[in-house]
Amino acid sequence: MMRMSRMLLPAGIAVATLIAACGGGEAAKEQEGDDKDDATPAVAVSFDPSTITDAELALGDSIFHGLIGATSCQSCHGAGGVNGAAAPSLVDDKWLHSDGSFEGIHKTIASGVMTPKEFSGVMPPFGGAPLDAAKHRAVAAYVYKISHK
Ligand code: HEC
Repeated sequence: MMRMSRMLLPAGIAVATLIAACGGGEAAKEQEGDDKDDATPAVAVSFDPSTITDAELALGDSIFHGLIGATSCQSCHGAGGVNGAAAPSLVDDKWLHSDGSFEGIHKTIASGVMTPKEFSGVMPPFGGAPLDAAKHRAVAAYVYKISHK
């Protein structure tokens, strides 16, 4: 498994690059409604978990714990996504806002949670500060992996 993902690293970087291009287009599309001038490239973004690389997981871990980026998921969800005081555990198989798939988690991170189901506080999009597409995918990959062992 580990050996596999190392071998896949260059492919993973290519995928992350494609997603960087694609994610920006998607964000723009959401903001501009049906303005399709700057069309999203016709690249299928892969949410196949086998495309997650070790490097991506390490990046996602750092983002989650506030070592990279302007916000910390840990501050609400707890270290490792366990025992958060202000937000649900991310290591169990109970999902309140998606089906818990890589893609579902990725979406929740971007939208945040304005109508929490169990906690009283909300989650701002990206936890508070925007993440670029590669970092967005990395932190989603991290959450996917800690919850799908
Ligand atoms: C300000 C506190 C806060 C921060 C920071 C925060 N979250 Fe959340 N998060 C929440 C709350 C509150 C919920 C929804 C709880 C509810 O529905 O009762 C939530 C829900 C989620 C969910 C959905 C869980 C489910 O059961 O479907 C995911 C995934 C998630 N957060 C990931 C992240 C990630 C990744 C980060 C960092 C980029 C982050 N969160 C930062 C408060 C936070």
